[in-house]
Amino acid sequence: MSNLEHTKKTFTLNTGAKIPAIGLGTWQSGPNEVREAVKNALLAGYRHIDTALAYGNEAEVGDGIRDSGVPRSEIWVTTKLNNTWHHRVAEGIDSSLKSLGLDYVDLYLMHWPSSTDPNDPKKHLPDWDFIKTWQELQKLPATGKVKNIGVSNFGIKNLEKLLNDPSCKIVPAVNQIELHPNNPSPKLVAYCASKGIHCTGYSCLGSTDSPLYKDPTLLKLAEKKGKTVQQVLLVWGIQKGWSVIPKSVNKARIQGNFDINGWELSADEVSQLDNLKDRFKVCGDDWLPIKVFFGDDE
Ligand SMILES: NC(=O)c1ccc[n+]([C@@H]2O[C@H](COP(=O)([O-])OP(=O)(O)OC[C@H]3O[C@@H](n4cnc5c(N)ncnc54)[C@H](OP(=O)(O)O)[C@@H]3O)[C@@H](O)[C@H]2O)c1
Repeated sequence: MSNLEHTKKTFTLNTGAKIPAIGLGTWQSGPNEVREAVKNALLAGYRHIDTALAYGNEAEVGDGIRDSGVPRSEIWVTTKLNNTWHHRVAEGIDSSLKSLGLDYVDLYLMHWPSSTDPNDPKKHLPDWDFIKTWQELQKLPATGKVKNIGVSNFGIKNLEKLLNDPSCKIVPAVNQIELHPNNPSPKLVAYCASKGIHCTGYSCLGSTDSPLYKDPTLLKLAEKKGKTVQQVLLVWGIQKGWSVIPKSVNKARIQGNFDINGWELSADEVSQLDNLKDRFKVCGDDWLPIKVFFGDDE
C-alpha cells in the first residue's frame, strides 16, 4: 500500500490492534440524521465510527451500521463511558452494547477523567476517582465485550497519576484528545508516544463554526494544493501520527472528507500548520465538577 492511501492507513495500538486512521465522528449528529450519516460514511469507505453514550445516538449509530450492509468485522467502533457511570462500568458497557445492538466494541474509552455524581452533575463522587474507574475498565477485555480500552481528555498530569498507580496493569491503548493546528498539544502527543499510547484527534476540523476556516496560512495552503481546508487538516493530522474522526451529517461532506488519497503535505507544509499562532480549544472543563485541564498539554 502506498503511503498516500490515507484512507487505508491504520495505526497499530499497544495491543497489536489496528485502528483506521480516519473515522466518522458523531457528536452533535442528531436524531434522524446520524443513522444516514453512518450508513453513507460506511458506503463511502469509512471503516471507523466514533460515538459515545453521552451523545445519545448509539442506537441510531448501530442502525446505520446495519443499514450499510458492511460486515461488522470490517468496522472499528469506538464508544465511551459517560462521566456519571464511572462507578458502574459493567453496566455502562452493557448499556452501550445494547443501544448499539452489537456484541462488542473495538475501543471503549473513559470519556473524561471526572467521576461525576449522577444525582448532581455539579458534584464529583466523594468515594470514587478515575483510578478506580480504570480498575473496572481493565476487567473488560477479558469479557470479550471490548477489544481495547483507553482514555479521553487526559493531560500529562492525569496520565502520570494513572500510569504510576500500582493498580494500573493495562496502559491505555488510546488517548482521544482535541487536536487541530490551533490546539496542537505537542508535549502531550510526545508524552503519549513515549508511553505507547496512540492519540486520536477530536474536533480535528475545529468543530462547529471552526475559526480555522478563516486562517490565512491554511487557506493559502489549501488553494496551493487544490484541496479543501478540511482535507488539508485531515491529512495534516494523519501525517502527524494520530487518527482523525471528522464529524459530518452531510453526504457530500462525508465523502469529501474521505477523498484524501494520492497526495501529502511536504515537511515544510506540515511545519507551517504546526506553527500557526492562534490558539483555541473547543472543549473546556468548566462544565465538570473538577478541573481536568491544567494549562497547555498538562
Ligand atoms: N472525546 C471527546 O471528549 C470528544 C470531544 C469532541 C468531539 N469528539 C469526537 O470527535 C468528533 C469530531 O469532533 P467535532 O464533532 O467536535 O468537530 P469536527 O469534526 O472538527 O467538525 C465538525 C463540524 O464541521 C462541519 N464539517 C464537517 N466536514 C465539513 C466540510 N467538509 N466542510 C465544511 N464543514 C464541515 C460539520 O458540519 P456538518 O455535519 O453539517 O457537515 C460540523 O459542524 C466528534 O463528532 C466526536 O465523535 C470527542
